[in-house]
Amino acid sequence: MRIDIISVVPDLLNSPFAHSIMKRAQAKGLLEVVVHNLRDYTPYKHAQVDDYQFGGGAGMVMMPEPLAIAIETLQKDRPYDEVIFMTPDGPTWNQKAANTLSLKQNLMIICGHYKGIDQRIRDHYITMEVSIGDYVLSGGELAAAVLVDSIGRLIPGVLNDETSALSDSFQDDLLSHPVYTRPANFRGWEVPEVLMCGDPKKVEAWRYEQALKRTEERRPDLLQHEE
Ligand code: ADE
Repeated sequence: MRIDIISVVPDLLNSPFAHSIMKRAQAKGLLEVVVHNLRDYTPYKHAQVDDYQFGGGAGMVMMPEPLAIAIETLQKDRPYDEVIFMTPDGPTWNQKAANTLSLKQNLMIICGHYKGIDQRIRDHYITMEVSIGDYVLSGGELAAAVLVDSIGRLIPGVLNDETSALSDSFQDDLLSHPVYTRPANFRGWEVPEVLMCGDPKKVEAWRYEQALKRTEERRPDLLQHEE
């Protein structure tokens, strides 16, 4: 999968994909992330990319021309499955959406800044809008990093143990069960005995019960749409 990200602060995205699972995904050739500086595409003097909003009001708006040129330039090289705009007023991101996008070939992500982007870009180029939660970030970059990470780890072959993504929280609309490692007794706090019993069926049943209990306590909304 290839993901192109357009940003006015591309340096913000230097680190998130340079470590751990995202680094491995790229090293294996399963994921390619290319970050573009929007200012490289502007036709305006002084690398201008934003301007005052029509109708007045505080906050600058990202101009349509640099964005249109950037998007069209990238689209000349490959077809994109989605052109995604990161914005707090989009539908909220979730694991199901990450699963769906992990099967795509080419994604483009536009990071907003200032007061947002000119609505005409949203109307004519953007195919999908995404919010990562009900709070406002200074720009779309950190949200884009969240998106790429959550998608990238689901690309087939990225995780060593394929089943580990399947047992993540949310994969089956349940939160994860508690996990333990050595030592079995840490400062007098014992690991649940069932995990030591060696019976995979009992362990599985206990984990499911714990996942259900956690979900009921913390996120009952996740259980509501289970048939
Ligand atoms: N840009 C600013 N805030 C955001 C959010 N919550 N989600 C996605 N993009 C954003």
